[in-house]
Amino acid sequence: MKVIEFQRFGGPEVLEWIEEPDPIPKAGQVLIEVKAAGINFADIMAREGAYPRVKTVPFRPGFEVAGVVTAWGEGVEGFRGGERVMGLVFGTGGYSTHAVLNAREATRLPDILDFAPATALLVQGLTAFFLLETGDLQAGQSVLIPGAAGGVGSLAVQIAKIKGAGKVIGLASPSKHELVRSLGADAVFDYTQTGWSESVLAETEGKGVAIFLDSQGDFGGEGFHALAEKAHWLIYGGQAEGSSPLMPDRLWPLVFKNITVRGYTVDSNTAEFARGLGEMIGWATSGRLQLSVQRFPLSEAAHAHQAISSRQTTGKVVLEP
Ligand SMILES: NC(=O)c1ccc[n+]([C@@H]2O[C@H](COP(=O)([O-])OP(=O)(O)OC[C@H]3O[C@@H](n4cnc5c(N)ncnc54)[C@H](OP(=O)(O)O)[C@@H]3O)[C@@H](O)[C@H]2O)c1
Repeated sequence: MKVIEFQRFGGPEVLEWIEEPDPIPKAGQVLIEVKAAGINFADIMAREGAYPRVKTVPFRPGFEVAGVVTAWGEGVEGFRGGERVMGLVFGTGGYSTHAVLNAREATRLPDILDFAPATALLVQGLTAFFLLETGDLQAGQSVLIPGAAGGVGSLAVQIAKIKGAGKVIGLASPSKHELVRSLGADAVFDYTQTGWSESVLAETEGKGVAIFLDSQGDFGGEGFHALAEKAHWLIYGGQAEGSSPLMPDRLWPLVFKNITVRGYTVDSNTAEFARGLGEMIGWATSGRLQLSVQRFPLSEAAHAHQAISSRQTTGKVVLEP
């Protein structure tokens, strides 16, 4: 098989091909021929040496794959050759022609769901789905979503609407605003322009948003001004390029507006992944959830990484062997 790894942290050029024998599935595992390998922003950070969970090299990036079952290990029942499945592959490398999945965690794909869009439902879909549950979204509540055209963001916009949110407000680069509106957002603003939080306040009749799904992690940023009383501020990423400590002018409004700040990682919902995937697969196959995909050949993983870092992509970015 062919698999991509990096032996030092750095730019996209550190991604390199390795050729080695196909893996042999152990007890409880299935081997799949990979048809689509999803890329996540965490892969970019890992390659740069900026992802706290990847401290050492060599490392094989790629947390999720979809493909067809070709073999299985002892004790695995109920799978047949050629069956279409997807699943998570933490740490063993998804940018590959072959991968092993734990059979218990492999999700079968309905025939009408292609491999590439299906991968959008794994790390990014599960994150969007469970962030909104963790934020305790209630019907009619307003939600603020940075990176709203991106992997997690584009699904969070749609899932918030499916779940009955009131105003869903996206933040994105201007070239992506039309897309964000087409996903169902009520408004979208450019977060590179100072003053965008004023626009969010105007859009919510001065109240601010009830839930802020914060992929930026910028305590000193404008998102703070856009929060309603009793808002839930969920920080699940660190894409902000600057960082500021929590100063008194932030601390006291946080206190007096009863704002809840919490971190979120999708791993905290592992036990419920099957429920989240089942619900999202239903929405996707019935057309309620749009899964948009940008495809790159597996051999162009470096190019795909470059496109994501330079903000040229929208939706799910996948590698196809
Ligand atoms: N905690 C968790 O469990 C978890 C799970 C999955 C993802 N995440 C986090 O969720 C965020 C989105 O992840 P994703 O995989 O869906 O990626 P993504 O949204 O597809 O990432 C690319 C987009 O992010 C936006 N962006 C904002 N700041 C950026 C920066 N400094 N550099 C490059 N792009 C930037 C850009 O959109 P604009 O051009 O519109 O700004 C860009 O197109 C990331 O922060 C990631 O770490 C967290």
